[in-house]
Amino acid sequence: MTIQHPSWLDHAIFYQIYPQSFYDTNGDGIGDLKGIIQKLPYLKGVGFNAIWISPFFASTFFDAGYDVCDYKKVAPRYGTNQDAYALFKAAHKLGMKVILDFVPGHTSIYHPWFKASCLDKKNPYTDRYIWSDRIMPPDPETHWVSGISERTGSYMVNFFSIQPALNYGFAEVQHPWEQRPTDPGPQSTIKDMIDVLLFWLSQGADGFRCDCAATLVKRDSDKKETAKVWQKMIGACKEKYPDCVFISEWSNAKQSLSGGFDIDFVLAGDTGYPLCRGENPYFRFDAATKEFDSWWANRSSDFAFADQKGKFVSFTSGNHDVNRIRASLSEEEIRYYYLFLLTVKNVPFFYYGDEIGMNDETGIPSIEGAYGRQVARSPMQWDESKTAGFSSSHKTYIKIPSIAERKGISVVAESSKKDSLLNYVKGLIAFKNLHPALDNDAVMKFHPVKDAMPLVYERSKGNEKLLVAFNLGHEPKRIALHGYQGNILFSLGSAPKITDKTILLAPHSAVVVA
Ligand code: GLC
Ligand code: CA
Repeated sequence: MTIQHPSWLDHAIFYQIYPQSFYDTNGDGIGDLKGIIQKLPYLKGVGFNAIWISPFFASTFFDAGYDVCDYKKVAPRYGTNQDAYALFKAAHKLGMKVILDFVPGHTSIYHPWFKASCLDKKNPYTDRYIWSDRIMPPDPETHWVSGISERTGSYMVNFFSIQPALNYGFAEVQHPWEQRPTDPGPQSTIKDMIDVLLFWLSQGADGFRCDCAATLVKRDSDKKETAKVWQKMIGACKEKYPDCVFISEWSNAKQSLSGGFDIDFVLAGDTGYPLCRGENPYFRFDAATKEFDSWWANRSSDFAFADQKGKFVSFTSGNHDVNRIRASLSEEEIRYYYLFLLTVKNVPFFYYGDEIGMNDETGIPSIEGAYGRQVARSPMQWDESKTAGFSSSHKTYIKIPSIAERKGISVVAESSKKDSLLNYVKGLIAFKNLHPALDNDAVMKFHPVKDAMPLVYERSKGNEKLLVAFNLGHEPKRIALHGYQGNILFSLGSAPKITDKTILLAPHSAVVVA
């Protein structure tokens, strides 16, 4: 039997919130959960009906919250657990869902589990992390740290040195200190993680975006053991909360969806972002000579696999780890990418600020382990005041770009301009919601792309069938009508010329026809 996804995903449009930079309600200069509650009506008004919040748990914030100290406690700077529960309620009242960021691979070195794990005396957390029994020599593949524990040995690191890898075992055991995924240490890690997940679900959370989901079991080249861990964790949650949703930061749908995830992201590297960011994005007009086909050739089997499982591969406008889309595409080009994002088969994700076209902010020094990622983490630009309407305080946790640096981009400014990017996104979402053939689960058929352009696909559901076509190149392109009536429902750029058998797409144009 095909495992189906929760049906609310068919209409979900996600918005990712980076909580520290979103909205500060108490004037301490840092975004908070009450701020998210206050801005829910804004998000709902644009058309977003689900939010994913980057980690808001007690943390040392050496990696912006991806270094958790207590999985069940809201970091005091964001408010209290009561605020989180109130956020779930407020969102549900508006018909919105809330997805939390689950960081299962590592904790902070200040997590009580890790502190116990550092002790020489054997205790329930001795095997909670991956420890060698000696000081490890430098190794190009794995990163080890020693010198801070009473116990003899080194701990394995996942990302920064302060993020020790939790122990889910090794698919292939090569050293005496390595354990199998079925050993008691890894099994107790899984048990405690299930407890964390069920805790938040019982309070009203609707699911989780799972950080570094592919990396739990070590030396697991085909990821089969990692998938088994997820089957166990996701299975335990879905058994009690069948409507909860799991989204993976994995970027390999076959592996991730086999682990029980509902959605896998198309992420960095050559797997997805070449479409909308980097040096030669497909959606840049002057770069539109590039082949879409070669990208699709690599990815189409992932989409087919997702279809077959009744699940999704998803695109995003961006996230907290990469440059803003606006740094790679012009505002006009972004409109084309958003048309793709909202009409291609997926569950679309927008990163906060991308709906108004916020750009990379280069003048902000790195804080909380951001480094090069800092550019995409600047405060949300609500209005054009000195503090961007982000906080009542001028002493914010992060430097707010000057009014000049913000170039007049804000929610207030965008709301008042009829043809702004924000109003475009609003209109596009409303258009998508009107058409069952654009539901996230509607069937999609890609046409082969010759000479990079045009990009054409069909969507269908029930009685409705739509054809979506893009010409991002400099030359006009003619395509067959494929039996469609030729009613133009949505278009960008110069309107296409429709004859009884063909559509002539002007350079830099896109169209949705019935
Ligand atoms: C993920 C997060 C990133 C974090 C890293 C380590 O890639 O998106 O922000 O630094 O994992 O947890
Ligand atoms: Ca605050």
